[in-house]
Amino acid sequence: MPDQPHLPTPPAAPEPGAPEPTDREVYRQRLREALRDPAFRAIEGFPIGSDEAILALSDPPTYTACPNPFLPEILQRWREERRQLRARLGLPPDDPPQEEPGLRRRSPYHREPFAADVSEGKNDPIYNAHSYHTKVPHRAIMRYILHYTDPGDIVLDGFCGTGMTGVAAQLCGDRRAVQSLGYRVQDDGTVLDEKGRPFSRLGSRRAVLIDLCPAATFIAYNYNTPVDPDAFEREARRILREVEEECGWMYETWHPHCDAPDRVRARINYTVWSDLFLCPHCGQEIVFWDVAVDRTSGRVREEFPCPRCGALHTKRTLDRAWETVYDRALKAPVRRARQVPVLIHYTLGRRRYEKTPDAADLDLLRRIEESDIPYPFPTDPLPEGEKTRDPMNVGITHVHHFYTRRNLWTLAAMLKRIKALGYPLQAVLQFLWHSLLLGYTKLNRYGATHYSQVNRFLSGTLYVSSLVSEVSLRYAFEGKIERLSSVFSSLRLRTGTTIISTQSTHRLQGIPDSSVDYVFVDPPFGSNLMYSELNFLWEAWLGVFTHNRPEAVVNKTQGKGLPEYQALMEACFREFYRVLKPGRWMTVEFHNSQNRVWNAIQEALQRAGFVVADVRTFDKQQGTFNQVTATGAVKQDLIISAYKPNERLEERVRALSRPGLASSESVWAFVDYHLGQLPVPELIDGKLEVLAERQDYLLYDRMVAFHVQRGIPVPIGAAEFYAGLRERYSERDGMFFLPLQAAEYDRRRLRAEAVVQLPLIVTDERSAIRWLRAQLQEQPRTLGELQPLFMREAQRAWAENETPLELRQLLEENFLEDEEGRWYVPDPNRARDLEEMREKLLLREFRRYASERGPLKVFRKEAVMAGFRRAWREKDYETIVRVADRLPLRVLEEDPALLMYYDNARGKLEK
Ligand SMILES: C[S@@+](CC[C@H](N)C(=O)[O-])C[C@H]1O[C@@H](n2cnc3c(N)ncnc32)[C@H](O)[C@@H]1O
Repeated sequence: MPDQPHLPTPPAAPEPGAPEPTDREVYRQRLREALRDPAFRAIEGFPIGSDEAILALSDPPTYTACPNPFLPEILQRWREERRQLRARLGLPPDDPPQEEPGLRRRSPYHREPFAADVSEGKNDPIYNAHSYHTKVPHRAIMRYILHYTDPGDIVLDGFCGTGMTGVAAQLCGDRRAVQSLGYRVQDDGTVLDEKGRPFSRLGSRRAVLIDLCPAATFIAYNYNTPVDPDAFEREARRILREVEEECGWMYETWHPHCDAPDRVRARINYTVWSDLFLCPHCGQEIVFWDVAVDRTSGRVREEFPCPRCGALHTKRTLDRAWETVYDRALKAPVRRARQVPVLIHYTLGRRRYEKTPDAADLDLLRRIEESDIPYPFPTDPLPEGEKTRDPMNVGITHVHHFYTRRNLWTLAAMLKRIKALGYPLQAVLQFLWHSLLLGYTKLNRYGATHYSQVNRFLSGTLYVSSLVSEVSLRYAFEGKIERLSSVFSSLRLRTGTTIISTQSTHRLQGIPDSSVDYVFVDPPFGSNLMYSELNFLWEAWLGVFTHNRPEAVVNKTQGKGLPEYQALMEACFREFYRVLKPGRWMTVEFHNSQNRVWNAIQEALQRAGFVVADVRTFDKQQGTFNQVTATGAVKQDLIISAYKPNERLEERVRALSRPGLASSESVWAFVDYHLGQLPVPELIDGKLEVLAERQDYLLYDRMVAFHVQRGIPVPIGAAEFYAGLRERYSERDGMFFLPLQAAEYDRRRLRAEAVVQLPLIVTDERSAIRWLRAQLQEQPRTLGELQPLFMREAQRAWAENETPLELRQLLEENFLEDEEGRWYVPDPNRARDLEEMREKLLLREFRRYASERGPLKVFRKEAVMAGFRRAWREKDYETIVRVADRLPLRVLEEDPALLMYYDNARGKLEK
């Protein structure tokens, strides 16, 4: 277990006669003391911020804007409460008694892998109350938690973002919320699924929420904390009123215009600002709005003429107009791209109008520019990064540059009043304010055809558009107050069921081994989103920043490529593995269209010790789940179900694979256990779908990975494995079952109209052999019969690095021919002989790869695999790394098996 954080000492007893401090004060004092300790602050990933800023943001013990030093004591309490709750509910005890940690009781826990649509609930007002760069709706997570856990169980989300997992865990105890998912809840709390089968039990679960970014945990804290909606609405409106009284003059305009004799004052809703360019031919200033926007349709033209010389331009062929202004906050001149106000949208009475800014509007803006803001605001410089380059390119180099002066003023005026409120109202009002912080900046794009201009920044970027909508205070906040208030009324939350910590998941200090019942995570996906950069703007106002060293991301500026990302993910998964109870599950929600990132995740999972039992994608059109069996770019969300094997299996495998005990029993110990974890195919619409995880080749892959990742030699080859499978287990439709499972499958089979086989795409030697095996298992065939079928299959997608193979060669190396020239699948004994022969051939080929130098462009991947297997057995790690280094990086990254040997061999050499 990694080092525990330094735990603060309790504060001294109060002076006799002094008033008793409240719980909050005691915890705050303890946090203050912890922060003074250099060892505590030295935890890797500790957020960047002063003690005061961290204390101001935190609400200990529930939430700290740093690693939460109260985790051990809270978890201890929860575990005790869980034991009592289980006894009350009549659930069998499943934790070893604490006084006898060595004692292992047979756990009654058993669940099968589960998948639910992770996009369900994206229109829910709770989900939309605060926008984060990506989110999994709490409604979707509830289904997972209900499936895998009992009331009182502890759920962990180590990449919690906005803390939806915490909301879901709490709402599992809310009858109405559970029923709204389509489940029935009986009086005794039993939850029945859509088919009326017992599925779970009503009752809230506890959640541990962790994220590296203070902006994320701040949002998570607010999402998970009960709020008095009336007090919230009252105070929000009061502050809005007060700030309007002070700042309202900055958002006024004359209707219809300043020179009209009957002019009246009106309230601005938003002002549109446009980029200003220079024509490279005639030097004319070009207002983008004037030339590019079609005012009737609202469309923006790609190409437009210079109003003076008529030269045709796109944005890329123009030069920007720049201006240098004195920045009073920085006390220095700054150079920035010029933008000018071009449209004012305002309200008079109940009607809305638009106008071109007139002289009084421009004069007002000038006056505001010259005024001093009487409140503090952040002026931090932007960090170098992948996303921060966009604003820097237009002269936005510091946080306050993202705002027009009046918006900066009103935000700062609001924050000052919010901070005067104290907890708990301060936090929730700050949450409201925080939820509009990005939409109040110059990132807010003008959308001519959009009814509302609120929160129109381009998600996942810091992109400054050529047309910016500068929204005014009332316009942005009023509707939001109402919406949030109704969200808070509908969310019936309790305190004490969630704990939130701001730290890196690669060191889960404070969470004991085997203490968590279920892990649900939606990790960062390679280079998709740069959380620490995107959160910078929020965090600048919070005063506490992400320490991005352990951020799991592919980011050039941070010096992190795919291997660094994979290593960080592996470290995080190792921690999940450590804290999860044996025999329990983790769900990983993953979205990335890049194969290499998907493989990095799989590899990291397996290296951490997890066994993957199911991978699925949700098909939105059909409303069904598809298995993901091949590595191929996946554009939808992937649901990965992985388990931590129980201790008995680990011990058995260790015992059975002691050196000198050349036995294949460790293999079968694993397969027994693994088959027990897999579901029996369900009858859906009269059809049974073949489960890839139960097929021989995937069982073989899982078995090999299980051994290799534990540093145990794989005692048998594929042919012996396949023969053993057939001897020991019941085979049905190409799948393998334990006896009771086979009986269940047979019952379902009797009722099934059809069994649906998985499509098989031939892309390389390995898949070609599987395809041939399937053909020949149906019936023996001649070369002539197979040839046209094979040509059609293999020519479609044969991988470019894979040596093309003749059908005859594939048949000769893997199958047998009868006297009539028909090829057939050999019986197990003959198959073993064949495999030995083929292995020899492949190893000969591999030796060539190992002896030559330079990049290998076209090769037999099966030969590389055979060579890696042999070299691994012989502990010749150097050869594995040398040959792997000759392969195209893409091939290595995209093949999980090759990557596994390579990573492990490299690890051994480094040691
Ligand atoms: C895909 S988001 C999670 C979103 C979340 N599921 C939600 O619904 O809001 C991934 C999160 O991982 C966090 N993260 C990145 N590296 C981390 C690390 N080493 N430890 C903990 N969190 C990390 C990011 O800050 C980001 O919030």
